[in-house]
Amino acid sequence: MKTVNTISETRDLINSIKIQGKTVGFVPTMGALHDGHITLIREARKENNFIVCSIFVNPIQFNNPNDLKNYPREIEKDIKKLVEAKCDLLFHPSVEEMYPEPDNTIFDFGDLDKVMEGAFRPGHFNGVAVVVKKLFEIVTPHRAYFGMKDYQQLVIIHQLTKDYEIPVEIVPCTTVREKDGLAMSSRNQLLSKSERKIAPIIYETLKLVKVQSGYATISELKDFVHDQFRKHKNMKLEYFEIVDMYTLKSIRTWADSRTAIACIAVYLGNVRLIDNIILFS
Ligand code: PAJ
Repeated sequence: MKTVNTISETRDLINSIKIQGKTVGFVPTMGALHDGHITLIREARKENNFIVCSIFVNPIQFNNPNDLKNYPREIEKDIKKLVEAKCDLLFHPSVEEMYPEPDNTIFDFGDLDKVMEGAFRPGHFNGVAVVVKKLFEIVTPHRAYFGMKDYQQLVIIHQLTKDYEIPVEIVPCTTVREKDGLAMSSRNQLLSKSERKIAPIIYETLKLVKVQSGYATISELKDFVHDQFRKHKNMKLEYFEIVDMYTLKSIRTWADSRTAIACIAVYLGNVRLIDNIILFS
């Protein structure tokens, strides 16, 4: 695997690959790679000849300075994992390389970025869109792979490619979980032992919601979830929403939509975790 830090070298390499008629699969990440990320690389391998991964902790998508400061960075370990997964190219730019000047682009995603993560992390999705659009312009992939764990991000990136007619196929990939059900996340390593022990409650709660959906009313389910987290003093529920998978609009009655997804954000101490479950699959 080749590791490249500059935009120009990445462009040159990818041009030479495309001239050979090869297809490019792209997995953008912020590093501290785990099996969730590696699964995206494997999926990309199945469908493309040349695999590019980017590792860039994008400062402008962090609305909380402490979250940015504490975000795990472990590039040597990451490189080993990418070599094992047979990634072909790692693009690992500096902040100066990506933002020689501040990028003040403002995107309009309508209501998509006003709810859930967008409501609680102001500016987050604008920062994500700025970096992903830039990365797409640099890597020019045929296909790009995104995890369902960050479901709202996936919907917004899909919208970004439609709005700007970016010729890339967005491939959604299933959430990879630890044995106890906790969705893999780079932030999991920031959990204390006792927080890690109770973290699986998040997905257990989502599974209980799924079992009851269609029977219990939505407001009953919301009360149920709020009660679940009130029981644990180290956990704080930030939001629990049942929304339409395509519009991200809140669903009020089951008659409104059969394409429903339940999304959740929970604090364990200072660590914020998100997860979701499709209700009628
Ligand atoms: P990051 O959190 O590193 O995630 C990179 C990709 O891995 C995203 O598509 C995310 O949804 C996916 N992913 C994370 N955990 C996963 C899991 N348990 N199972 C499956 N996929 C998982 O998301 C970002 O970085 C950034 O916002 C980025 C898109 C790179 C822009 O900076």
